[in-house]
Amino acid sequence: MKVAKRIDAVKPSATLKISSIAKQLAKEGKDVVDMSVGEPDFKTPQRIIDSAYKAMNEGKVFYTPTKGIPELLNAIAEKMQKENGVPATADNVIVTPGAKYAIFEAMMCLIDEGDEVILLDPSWVSYEACVLMAGGKPIWVPHNEDFSDAPIEDYISSSTKMIVINTPSNPLGVVYSKEFLKKVRDLAVDKDLLVMSDEIYEKIIFEGKHYSLASFDRMFERTITINGFSKTYSMTGWRLGYAVAPKWIIERMNVMQSHSVSHPTSFVQYAGLEALKSDESFIKQMVAEFKARRDMIMKKLNELGISYAPPKGAFYIFMNVERDGDKFCEEFLKNEFVALTPGSAFGIAFNEWVRLSYATSRERIEEFLKRLEKFIA
Ligand SMILES: Cc1ncc(COP(=O)(O)O)c(C=O)c1O
Repeated sequence: MKVAKRIDAVKPSATLKISSIAKQLAKEGKDVVDMSVGEPDFKTPQRIIDSAYKAMNEGKVFYTPTKGIPELLNAIAEKMQKENGVPATADNVIVTPGAKYAIFEAMMCLIDEGDEVILLDPSWVSYEACVLMAGGKPIWVPHNEDFSDAPIEDYISSSTKMIVINTPSNPLGVVYSKEFLKKVRDLAVDKDLLVMSDEIYEKIIFEGKHYSLASFDRMFERTITINGFSKTYSMTGWRLGYAVAPKWIIERMNVMQSHSVSHPTSFVQYAGLEALKSDESFIKQMVAEFKARRDMIMKKLNELGISYAPPKGAFYIFMNVERDGDKFCEEFLKNEFVALTPGSAFGIAFNEWVRLSYATSRERIEEFLKRLEKFIA
């Protein structure tokens, strides 16, 4: 007996694997510093929690429309118009149990056997897996040295169907410039390609400005914008994300959703609505804290002579350890009880790099930096 080809080709998520080993070591009583997790370490704002209770108490505990409750679809469309310059209406929106599921669903609906999907190397772990599960072929495109550009044009073939862009980027922390995104736009329009624009870290930016690809000329008709509540509102476990795309794509995603997960949890959707209504003070505080942590780490890495991609957003630093990254992570975890994620998880050219997530307290970061200095000495 064999499993289906679509899952046979896919490796388990490396980030989840490392954090489960770290959790196991912690259970055994080891003082683990976990710098591997991709989730903010802040409590979900109380107002959002209260709104979920309220929805439950009001009996909003039954099936909702597959695409999501109309109030939330409208609020997302309005946000896209106001904040992102994207002319979306509720017809262009579907809410999903996490942004990850929106990515999976969009890939399953748009990628056929043999279609090529351009991924920038390195990229977040699940894009490649979703392309493979959909039967597509990931095409890795290298970045230039400072991660500001990538020669996508050299990798487009007659089989290319989609380009995936993630800004701010996980694992790089790079915020792509308007010029680079304009180049992606020109290529997509010229070659008639779809673009998946994952903007889940759009509000976690320290330097630079966020641009939504769907707001560029003639891009709304070919862009699937992915976003969600996990990072912006510290709501990873609530599982709420969304896709904004042309109606013909949303309609097909809706069909797939109706036969798979049905919809995100009813009262979680009401919590999402509250999140969009709230002022941004929570986000501002979180971003200020992330920035302070980032600066602390950069200072030490500079002292230690460790190079890294310019971390202008998200909450990761992708650093070059100049030796096998898998081994580095394994030994660092075994010897110093620090969990990082090997660069090999994110693409094909970063075997000597590792990703750290600074979604952990400053005290723990201090501890990490001490152990790092000791480990590399
Ligand atoms: C780039 C990127 N996109 C999407 C996701 C998925 O987020 P969600 O928790 O909404 O599924 C993550 C989570 O780590 C991410 O880093």
